[in-house]
Amino acid sequence: MEPTTWDRVLREGRDLYTPNRGPPGDRVYGETLRTAQGVEYRQWDPFRSKLAALLVKGGPPDLWAGAHKALYLGGAHGTTVSHLSDLLDPAPIFVIEKSPTSFAPLLALAQRRTNVLPILADAQLPERYRADVGEVDLLYQDVAQRNQAAIFVENARAVLAPGGRGILMLKVRSVTQRRPVTAVVRETRAELDRGGIEVRAEVGLAPFARDHVALVTRSR
Ligand SMILES: C[S@@+](CC[C@H](N)C(=O)[O-])C[C@H]1O[C@@H](n2cnc3c(N)ncnc32)[C@H](O)[C@@H]1O
Repeated sequence: MEPTTWDRVLREGRDLYTPNRGPPGDRVYGETLRTAQGVEYRQWDPFRSKLAALLVKGGPPDLWAGAHKALYLGGAHGTTVSHLSDLLDPAPIFVIEKSPTSFAPLLALAQRRTNVLPILADAQLPERYRADVGEVDLLYQDVAQRNQAAIFVENARAVLAPGGRGILMLKVRSVTQRRPVTAVVRETRAELDRGGIEVRAEVGLAPFARDHVALVTRSR
């Protein structure tokens, strides 16, 4: 396995790996484990994790390097959260998830990973958790909601430090079934801009996630 431009991510051929910061032998979603030079690694599937898809599609190298605390909106069962936990450890990741069904596996994940801190809450109401989370320097969002841009702007306003980095996984077909992807991306970028958020990179995630575009941001 070889190092990549992304902090702690290794690659072999087309496969990406992160160092397992969970208990030895622990799998989160049935991923392959392998050991190199005494360190256990977990394979990171770009079809299961849009963050891995962003890397494979050429995301910038400094996506999370040096992050001290992260807020993750839309944790689901923790697939991507677990890899971010590998990458940021020991930095804490607060994870917002509104579905009680998804929250149960997230809680189980948090018992195996001390830097995962799940909160059962609606990401549309950051005032409910901002005091618990405090200021973060990385905001990640993957909520598949019609008002994705507004949720991102409101959360950035609530907790993201000036100059903080963000990754918005924009699911275009949750915004509209009919309008072209390019129009939705343009409108989303304009809404972020009005909210004081600069888009540094725009990366389409096909063929890993259909009609998804990753927007890599920095707050002004
Ligand atoms: C596409 S899934 C996230 C997948 C996950 N990010 C991953 O890569 O492993 C979207 C998740 O967002 C959650 N969600 C949707 N709207 C939300 C909201 N307003 N607040 C919190 N979670 C929300 C859903 O319950 C669902 O679990």
